[in-house]
Amino acid sequence: MSADIAGPTPVEIIPSILAADFGRLVADVQAAMEVGVTTVQVDVMDGHFVPNISVGLPIVAALARATDVRLDVHLMVHEPERHIEAFAGAGADVLTVHVEATRHIHRAVGRIRALGVAAGAALNPGTPLVLLEEVLPELDVALVMTVDPGFGGQAFLAAMLPKVERLRAWVDAAGLTVAVQVDGGVSAESAGALARAGATQLVAGTAVFGAGVPIGEAVARLRAAAGNRDAGPRPAVGTSSS
Ligand code: DX5
Repeated sequence: MSADIAGPTPVEIIPSILAADFGRLVADVQAAMEVGVTTVQVDVMDGHFVPNISVGLPIVAALARATDVRLDVHLMVHEPERHIEAFAGAGADVLTVHVEATRHIHRAVGRIRALGVAAGAALNPGTPLVLLEEVLPELDVALVMTVDPGFGGQAFLAAMLPKVERLRAWVDAAGLTVAVQVDGGVSAESAGALARAGATQLVAGTAVFGAGVPIGEAVARLRAAAGNRDAGPRPAVGTSSS
């Protein structure tokens, strides 16, 4: 059934574990899965490409062992190509690298895909969209950062909305199926504008795990704000998201 008959593709909410309670990480992830979340994002930070140090291989491997959730690993690290095989081996289902962090984005994307892992490329707010142009057809995910990376809980940069719109237009004009992903300060206040701008995946940490409400309610709020007609719980996990 074509999308226009089935209606617009629902925007996928991808919780970022950066804001989760690491003392009960698996429980938090399972609570998200209970409301139909199929993918979580693991923010890997090396203190070099970004000022902060977060988590790495052990957390990816632990989540891969303990859950069925799809692991979208966001490598905010210098020279990410040095870590591709290790994160693929740890259980990453998606590996997203920053175009600013490598001299060879095309080679990095090719190596990720050669390992059977979905490949993403990310742009910091100050990085022009054009740096994705040549590698866009090779991507599974194109990530527009709406904060300067390194920390959760930052303010959403609404100035990035036109960049999301232009990326959406590029993907559609080229007839590609690249996911348009947004990460950084995403909340119920910005989800609608992001969905209208053409984002298909919204990464949210604070708005899911730090919202002060049950995780399921936080996810439902984001789905509703993004305009997903069925904002409620989704079918049980096990169906891999696109
Ligand atoms: C920034 C991180 C955060 C995280 C989400 O480097 O990538 O954007 O995923 O954090 P919130 O949703 O709390 O901004």
